[in-house]
Amino acid sequence: MSETLALQGRHIVLGLSGGVACYKAAELTRLLVKAGATVQVVMTEAATRFITPVTLQALSGRAVHTDQWDAREPNNMPHINLSRQADAVLIAPASADFIARLAQGRADELLSLLCLARPAERCALLVAPAMNREMWAHPATQRNTAQIAADGAHVLGPAAGDQACGEVGDGRMLEPAELLDELIAHFQPKLLAGRSMLVTAGPTFEAIDPVRGITNLSSGKMGFAIARAAAEAGAQVTLVAGPVQLPTPRGVHRIDVQSAQQMLDAVLPQAPRHQVFVATAAVADWRPAQAQAQKIKKDGSGQPPALAFIENPDILATVARLPTGQRPWCVGFAAESHDIVAHARQKLARKGVPLIVANNGPATFGRDDNQLVLVDAQGEHALPPGDKLTLARQLVAEIARRMAGSAE
Ligand code: CTP
Repeated sequence: MSETLALQGRHIVLGLSGGVACYKAAELTRLLVKAGATVQVVMTEAATRFITPVTLQALSGRAVHTDQWDAREPNNMPHINLSRQADAVLIAPASADFIARLAQGRADELLSLLCLARPAERCALLVAPAMNREMWAHPATQRNTAQIAADGAHVLGPAAGDQACGEVGDGRMLEPAELLDELIAHFQPKLLAGRSMLVTAGPTFEAIDPVRGITNLSSGKMGFAIARAAAEAGAQVTLVAGPVQLPTPRGVHRIDVQSAQQMLDAVLPQAPRHQVFVATAAVADWRPAQAQAQKIKKDGSGQPPALAFIENPDILATVARLPTGQRPWCVGFAAESHDIVAHARQKLARKGVPLIVANNGPATFGRDDNQLVLVDAQGEHALPPGDKLTLARQLVAEIARRMAGSAE
């Protein structure tokens, strides 16, 4: 999905403290710049032992700051100037020592000094820890991390996995692309804070035998974009996904399924725990009456095997019929090839939902952009065509607006 200029107009101070993960900061700088941000790199003395300021200056297009006594600043106050210009300060990597410094409010070198001096109400501090697993697990580090979170810092990760020292465990810095997504999410308005959303996405796969089945061309991109947009907006999100090869959006709880029946079985216990249900999945309408346990072989007669079909459950309609108190606010999608609005309006009534989002199925399956028309009892409203993530954010804003106006 198009993320080209998601940070356009944002000014980020990227702070590096000492750690092997400094090598990832070069890629992170490149991604932030590519996303439209201006990036001012600030390094501790220890960070310069791991990667040179030359690399980061070249990638950010700005001279790197390393010193609180830098006479290049006319007022000789780089800590004030840097923090006043920033929309956010991202420390990546944040070493155990640097987190301890933040927790104590130390101010004897430029990076911790500018973190302390930043106007906290309009310039967030995001911290991506990176260290050996024993250092991360140590009570001192845990205490310091809890302290900086209590003081308002957003702690990103760390992840678990292979470490530079050869050990395996918690303490790896998040990958640059994950940190980019975290930063983009940080700047989204928290329209669904305190809300929860359940989303279905992708196709279903209905087995004929162990090697064959019936599926469709849905890529899952629209549903994944909605799950991501809702999580960015502060919602707690569960995503029930058919067979697709898409990464799980950060912060989203994903349940993978294959068939329509499995999707229904996953959705039903979740539905009463969520306030909104958005059904984007292209659920197969029919499934083979009996999936064969063994591969169906040609019998030499030249006749195709006779396949009998039975209808799949309608997941959206089933959720929309749940009793009040267990029923989330339901949004359906309608993938049509013609008479888009008329068919969507029929589905609105047939499925018993307050909102159907109509789109041209064949024109959008697998693509990054889309055009959506919102159809409800009052009328219809077309969103401007755009990439699926932009549309998803608009839809999330629309859902938030309607929920705020509903009794829930
Ligand atoms: N849907 C569902 N379960 C099904 C079929 C559809 O939950 N068994 C949901 C889809 O996720 C979507 C909406 O219902 O939100 C409409 O899906 P669509 O396939 O366009 O409609 P159908 O009900 O299958 O109608 P038709 O085949 O006539 O287009």
